[in-house]
Amino acid sequence: MHHAPAPTRYDAMTYRRCGASGLKLPAVSLGLWHNFGEVDRFGTARELVLHAFDRGIAHFDLANNYGPPPGSAERTLGEILRRDLAAHRDELVISTKAGYLMGPGPYGDGGSRKHLLGSLDQSLRRLGLDHVDVFYHHRPDPETPLAETMAALDHAVRSGRALYVGLSNYPAGLLREAAALLRRLGTPCVLHQPRYSMFDRRIEHDGLLDVLAQEGVGCIAYSPLAQGLLSERYLGGDIPGDSRAARGQFLKAEHLTAERLETVRRLAAVARERGQSLAQLALSWVLRHAGMSSVLIGASRVAHVDEAVAALSHPAPSTGELRLIEDILRGESA
Ligand SMILES: NC(=O)c1ccc[n+]([C@@H]2O[C@H](COP(=O)([O-])OP(=O)(O)OC[C@H]3O[C@@H](n4cnc5c(N)ncnc54)[C@H](OP(=O)(O)O)[C@@H]3O)[C@@H](O)[C@H]2O)c1
Repeated sequence: MHHAPAPTRYDAMTYRRCGASGLKLPAVSLGLWHNFGEVDRFGTARELVLHAFDRGIAHFDLANNYGPPPGSAERTLGEILRRDLAAHRDELVISTKAGYLMGPGPYGDGGSRKHLLGSLDQSLRRLGLDHVDVFYHHRPDPETPLAETMAALDHAVRSGRALYVGLSNYPAGLLREAAALLRRLGTPCVLHQPRYSMFDRRIEHDGLLDVLAQEGVGCIAYSPLAQGLLSERYLGGDIPGDSRAARGQFLKAEHLTAERLETVRRLAAVARERGQSLAQLALSWVLRHAGMSSVLIGASRVAHVDEAVAALSHPAPSTGELRLIEDILRGESA
């Protein structure tokens, strides 16, 4: 029953260091936010994970609440690990998070020690693991002292439940404070996970990338394809029935404005000139930053995984191409 992994699995992938840490991540990582819940087909989820692993994507990103229902994506991955990859646990970087709404009551959300450590224990049970590789606080909690949240992350490592800690969705100033606290505790922050794509460049403007470089923290960008918008998927005129926009929960039809689709069309033309797809250009564009450890994609089919991995064999966008992309993006906001 165990999966026999491809002997070539490390050949086409590149691995990038997370900040000043010893940990390296594949330049492309796979997130299990969508398509891995109890509502999705287990066979497709399993195929995606094994296909990704065979192409060197050794990092799988989760959170306590991914599903639906919440918790079910961790259960799905736990089942795949148990059935297929048990012998390869040490080749895998499994991350999970706590800090978004997970359950009812005062301990089902937030940044308290109570929520973080309780949630991590639940995640480990669902995954069938004795530790995760990276445990994140998912978003800032203004009601909990930062020192308490960081001490809880430190404890997660000291108690053997996690090897490393990370932060997600923290603004630059708070990240700097949190990184200093963690460093003092002896558990440095190895990763920050912000949203970043051609359509969401907030982290360039608020100084976060500079802070990460100064603090020696790696960066893994989520939604680098703006949930699929940065691809040719929506250029056909209507919303494909099997797309994320058709589900309408996180990517909604109203995000697909005529202006945005025109921008996508123009960006796709730049990608075509480079002999690649728009999704591939969007990933290379994010990876152009030296401090970018990995792009964290989602996928609903194995072809998405292959396309992302193939992007790594294309050259980084040239200065001229970057300028062209700037003009197209500026044209939209003008
Ligand atoms: N920390 C946080 O707060 C946070 C928040 C959000 C996400 N994340 C993490 O980031 C991961 C990725 O987020 P995301 O799923 O929004 O990333 P994304 O890569 O921007 O979007 C993925 C979606 O784009 C479409 N797609 C992917 N490759 C494609 C291709 N080559 N051509 C056309 N369409 C393609 C697929 O949608 P279809 O279903 O339409 O095919 C796929 O599900 C999540 O799984 C999660 O681990 C973290």
